[in-house]
Amino acid sequence: EHKIIIAIDGFSGCGKSTTAKVVAKKLNYIYIDTGAMYRAVTLYFCQNNIVLDDEAQIDKALANIEIRFEYNTSSGQNVTLLNGKVVEDEIRKMYVSAKVSPVSAIPAVRKAMVAQQRQMGKGKGIVMDGRDIGTNVFPNAELKIFMEADVAVRAERRQKELAAKGQEVALQEIIDNLSQRDHQDSTRKENPLTKAIDAHTIDTTHMTIEQQSEEIVGLVESLV
Ligand code: C5P
Repeated sequence: EHKIIIAIDGFSGCGKSTTAKVVAKKLNYIYIDTGAMYRAVTLYFCQNNIVLDDEAQIDKALANIEIRFEYNTSSGQNVTLLNGKVVEDEIRKMYVSAKVSPVSAIPAVRKAMVAQQRQMGKGKGIVMDGRDIGTNVFPNAELKIFMEADVAVRAERRQKELAAKGQEVALQEIIDNLSQRDHQDSTRKENPLTKAIDAHTIDTTHMTIEQQSEEIVGLVESLV
């Protein structure tokens, strides 16, 4: 069976990771959430008061960070571990979302994460989502998807997700965070968020997760 690399990029909160998880399950592929990796680095920086323009301190911090994904049998989901500790819920909190874009713009941070992502994707049969997967991490990925959606719709979905985890966040705070991250991620110098020329665009504003995942699975089937 021919397995491929599926790269999913796009704006914040378009449903990339939820869709990617479903696609991975349907195809029996491995799902890799690169946003979780940048979030874990950001959490470490917050916990250790790392100064974002102190290069030596950042290099030292990066050498002390180990990020892993582990399958949790009780939830049936992959969880993110930072230095052996489960941080899955903590990295989704708003204080991390508010800091993650500046941290992700640091060249040394990107260099370290991209190297790990390329290593993880070596075996093929992977679905990887992020901002620079099709343009930078795997420019030769067999299938590239670029996801976008209306910001108000994205914010409502994210608000529901957070509420389900007991976090009540005002809609405007979420809209502001998504817009700011989109802007910072698209305008940074190092590997900014852009649509790869050979990517298929999916606008998820009026789509369900099932429709999004079926569209991607259909594209995979037309390829392999
Ligand atoms: O995907 P998620 O929204 O969890 O990503 C959080 C942040 O991590 C993004 O807003 C972006 O700043 C950063 N990121 C990145 N490159 C990736 C994935 C995420 O810079 N490949």
